[in-house]
Amino acid sequence: MSSGTIAANREVRPPGQALSAAAARFGTPVYVTDMVDVAAAAARMEAAFAPPWQRLYSLKANDLPAITTYLHGRGWGASVVSAGEWRHARAAGVTNESVAFEGLGKTDAQLELVVRETAAGRPLRWLGIESGQEAAVLARLARAAGLGRDGRPPLDVLLRLNPEVEPETRPEFAVGARASKFGMSSQEILALARSGALAGPGLRLRGIHVHVGSDLGDVRAFCLAGVGAVGLLADLRAERRAGPGSDPRAEAGPDGDLAWLDTVDFGGGFPLPAEQAPAPGEFRDALVLALHEAGLDLPPRVAIEPGRYLVGAAGWLVSSVLHARPGSKPAQQVVLDAGMTEFIRPALYGSRHAAHALSPDGAAGLLDTALEGPVCESTDSFGRHLLPPLRRGDLVAIGQTGAYGASFTSRYNGRPPPGEVLLWPDGSLQQCERPTGSPPATKESLP
Ligand SMILES: Cc1ncc(COP(=O)(O)O)c(C=O)c1O
Repeated sequence: MSSGTIAANREVRPPGQALSAAAARFGTPVYVTDMVDVAAAAARMEAAFAPPWQRLYSLKANDLPAITTYLHGRGWGASVVSAGEWRHARAAGVTNESVAFEGLGKTDAQLELVVRETAAGRPLRWLGIESGQEAAVLARLARAAGLGRDGRPPLDVLLRLNPEVEPETRPEFAVGARASKFGMSSQEILALARSGALAGPGLRLRGIHVHVGSDLGDVRAFCLAGVGAVGLLADLRAERRAGPGSDPRAEAGPDGDLAWLDTVDFGGGFPLPAEQAPAPGEFRDALVLALHEAGLDLPPRVAIEPGRYLVGAAGWLVSSVLHARPGSKPAQQVVLDAGMTEFIRPALYGSRHAAHALSPDGAAGLLDTALEGPVCESTDSFGRHLLPPLRRGDLVAIGQTGAYGASFTSRYNGRPPPGEVLLWPDGSLQQCERPTGSPPATKESLP
């Protein structure tokens, strides 16, 4: 399944009145997140991955603190990839013990932040290491801060595996492929674990982190990667059990307690509900079966970190028509006040999202309509849709925009950020803000 089929596969009707009310009260463009949908998605995921599974919400999908606060209230932790996302998680009330820090490329300032929090007695749940060089900087910082000594806690770390699989998704999302920039090969990880780079009391190697890709159309790559990660954890444990003498390179190797080496974070990637899309429980069952067939068990500490599944279907981007021009092909060309600066996925990936006219109702018949954004880029388009004849001021809602939408906006063309509103089960609308003082573009300032 590609994300191009998301909208087509699922019959969704917009909560029209609420969306129109949001537009009237807060102006357009405005994102409306239907919390009934978030709750339903979270409940399905919680049923599929019940404890002992640890559930971390991947903030990159939508880092609006109010959403994270809601999920945290249901017991979810947070997976963040930058100091900015960490601040958003903290603003949402998530404490460090429930936050995993897992960005691909971390600056010294980000590593310092995590080390400083740990030294202050507020260790994060873990930090995911992406390379040997990153490990070396982290180890130096941990030593300098005296982590693991004099009553200071150590920092738990996972090593990110590139599982070298072919994920069943579009190439842009296939981060578990061999050529991707994400994670280390199993050989690199074994060498890093033996090298002594993580030795000492400050860093505690807890296990493996893996993420296959987003919007997965099948369970196979997820399972293959999961078997690879659990197998690698078993190899690390076996080497450690055998002791330094088992490998000459391990003489200065990590000396942590074997019992701590107990964690695999299997990542996210669960697709939105659709006819052919596997449900979360199918991923879990297939993984357990694949592990069984490989002679492996789930390790004691297991985690997932979905983003899209929790919020994707819940989001509506409500926009106003700026102008509509009749034509012959397409029959109507419509320019909205929302475009790639508010929702970049169609321009970036060619993803397709259903569009609904909130007014008028379509009684006058539907026209082949090119739905365009207002930005000075020809790729700023939502594609072709069947819509009624539209006029300036009419409202159009674009569906399934809750993930990688509001958190992925840009200021191009001098455009201000869109409004963000939560729709609660009682029909009330809550306007929400992101924390001010978002990270500057060049260097992340520390709190
Ligand atoms: C490491 C990692 N974990 C989790 C996710 C969340 O993926 P999804 O939103 O598809 O669940 C991503 C998305 O890019 C990721 O890179």
